[in-house]
Amino acid sequence: MGNIINIKNINVSYGKNHVLKNVNIDIKKKDFFTFLGPSGCGKTTLLRLIAGFEQSQSGELFIDGKEVSKLNPWERDVGLVFQNYALWPHLSVAKNISFGLEEKKIPKNEINDRVDEVLELVGMQDLKQRYPYQLSGGQQQRVALARTIVVRPKVLLLDEPLSNLDAKLRNQMRIELLELHNKLQITTIFVTHDQEEANSISDNIAIFNEGIIQQVGAPIDLYNNPENLFVANFLGTINVLNGEIQNGSFKSAKNFELKNIKSENKMKCSLLIRPQNISFIRRSDSDQAFKGKIEGKEFLGNLIRYQVLLNDHLITIDNVHQGKEKIYSKNDNIEFFINSEISKII
Ligand SMILES: Nc1ncnc2c1ncn2[C@@H]1O[C@H](COP(=O)(O)OP(=O)(O)O)[C@@H](O)[C@H]1O
Ligand SMILES: [Mg+2]
Repeated sequence: MGNIINIKNINVSYGKNHVLKNVNIDIKKKDFFTFLGPSGCGKTTLLRLIAGFEQSQSGELFIDGKEVSKLNPWERDVGLVFQNYALWPHLSVAKNISFGLEEKKIPKNEINDRVDEVLELVGMQDLKQRYPYQLSGGQQQRVALARTIVVRPKVLLLDEPLSNLDAKLRNQMRIELLELHNKLQITTIFVTHDQEEANSISDNIAIFNEGIIQQVGAPIDLYNNPENLFVANFLGTINVLNGEIQNGSFKSAKNFELKNIKSENKMKCSLLIRPQNISFIRRSDSDQAFKGKIEGKEFLGNLIRYQVLLNDHLITIDNVHQGKEKIYSKNDNIEFFINSEISKII
């Protein structure tokens, strides 16, 4: 499948603030693609650039093979749903949705049919005569979506569309968004700062930090194979131990050693281990077994997260909570196993 968006060497500055730094991203047709990163890292700026509301100082932007940098927003075939919805307060739901079609001088019959069609898609048929102030946050969100998809854009752009909703509604809207995406088969670019939301909804994710794309990939690949510490840390809890590799053995400055590492000799590197890849054992008979002392624990429902002191390193170990496993207390001496095959070196 071909790409529908090519972002090439894009730079955007506001005065001295260099907000997007040589950004390159390709987005496949029909993908659900997410821009993920902390607040202020440039996600909205890039989305607005694609929509035509921002200019870059350098670089190129292709939509469906056509360079669009000089085109106005309405000439680009993209639809942006703003973070605050931006509905017209004095227009009914139906009028909010038909507005874009009336501007395009589409015949009245067709407008009515298309408005009804999208109202049904977002489950708002019964509320078409209401005004925005008579709607809940979730309903306003659906109207904003309907208003954008009714003009049948090639690309749907969503700027943190779920951030104003409460947790339960947010989960429900995630599912609805995915269903809508499957039905319409429309390329969607979704912006969020929430890694869990990004993982649950995306085909592919670009991780941003301070205007620089850190890594692009499918959620599971990014989680398992982070290319740098920012990505490793942003996508969930991880143990990072600094040290070096000599003859297949990782050694930290604090005398921790892990053997059977499949990596070349390296002077300065980090060993990355997810907390769920360390397991408690009763009896050590392996060279990947270690002794430690419990420093603290957190009960998280499905798992218990322990802080464990290992040769002056404070590491995190997650133990699945099933109800019958042994639960450790502070100062307990424990032994555990680190699977060197699952750990990563960067
Ligand atoms: N119109 C603007 N004028 C000046 N600075 C801006 C403008 N829009 C965004 N910025 C700055 O650009 C940076 C990135 O902002 P933004 O793209 O909104 O980040 P994000 O959406 O990732 O939170 C921030 O430092 C922000 O203050
Ligand atoms: Mg933003």
